[in-house]
Amino acid sequence: MGESNIDSIKKKWSLEGMTALVTGGSKGIGYAIVEELAQLGASVYTCSRNEAQLNEALNQWATKGYIVTGSVCDLASRAHREELITRIHSHFNGKLNILVNNVGTNIMKETLEFTEEDFSFLLSTNLESAFHISQLSHPLLKASGVGSIIFLSSVAGVVSINVGSIYGATKGAITQLTKNLACEWAKDNIRTNCVAPGLIRTPLAELHIKDEKLLNSFITRTPIGRIGEAGEVSSLVAFLCMPAASYINGQIICPDGGLTVNCID
Ligand SMILES: NC(=O)c1ccc[n+]([C@@H]2O[C@H](COP(=O)([O-])OP(=O)(O)OC[C@H]3O[C@@H](n4cnc5c(N)ncnc54)[C@H](OP(=O)(O)O)[C@@H]3O)[C@@H](O)[C@H]2O)c1
Repeated sequence: MGESNIDSIKKKWSLEGMTALVTGGSKGIGYAIVEELAQLGASVYTCSRNEAQLNEALNQWATKGYIVTGSVCDLASRAHREELITRIHSHFNGKLNILVNNVGTNIMKETLEFTEEDFSFLLSTNLESAFHISQLSHPLLKASGVGSIIFLSSVAGVVSINVGSIYGATKGAITQLTKNLACEWAKDNIRTNCVAPGLIRTPLAELHIKDEKLLNSFITRTPIGRIGEAGEVSSLVAFLCMPAASYINGQIICPDGGLTVNCID
């Protein structure tokens, strides 16, 4: 007997049975993504640098009954990235359905104050790590038969929002990497998309949120009139990984309350 309509719609809107790697899941947007993918049925692996925070997050998910594993890893290090993917390979038996390149950071400075070290730190954390993890994950994503990569860019990669020129440049590069991988790897049944959020309440954004002038300029330019929550980014990421999004490839979507389409205060 064929699948009923209700069963096929449930499959289309589910991540049941899928395997996922979400980088930087111990807090902020990554935490919300891990939790949402796990709630929707995926088996999730995550990583971060701070062991105590990672263990705390893993304990919280275990208490809630979600299948989440994790290990400490500094994604700015090439050797750590290689070790991480070796672990993922054995943990998921060589097959990965979902890769969320979430790790990213910022240094808030005027352009003229940036040092050589600042430049290479932001480049290796925000761009090189996502590029290399995608490269290393390719055989696993291909082997799964249905692969999906989500990159985390930012509205700062789409327009100028005064949070640092190097941050904006790394995030702009991520959007272009998305478009190239979407074209190069579609033949391997790997879709590639990018989520570029506006200001979202997370530990990373705390400094921006505390700066009243910056916060107000964000809010007045945002038609929805407020900043976003991590759960408003994770729902979009989850959707893009689902069979329901099977024809969406190479897209940059901004969960930003309308900020990037508004040019009037
Ligand atoms: N929050 C926003 O307003 C906003 C807006 C647009 C885009 N984004 C982007 O969204 C992503 C997540 O941002 P967030 O605000 O959630 O940041 P966050 O609060 O700082 O969380 C970042 C996560 O990544 C981990 N991480 C950072 N550097 C790492 C490294 N080198 N190796 C391994 N793990 C690392 C952190 O844990 P450890 O520190 O323990 O390593 C943490 O789990 C970033 O790519 C960011 O650029 C954020």
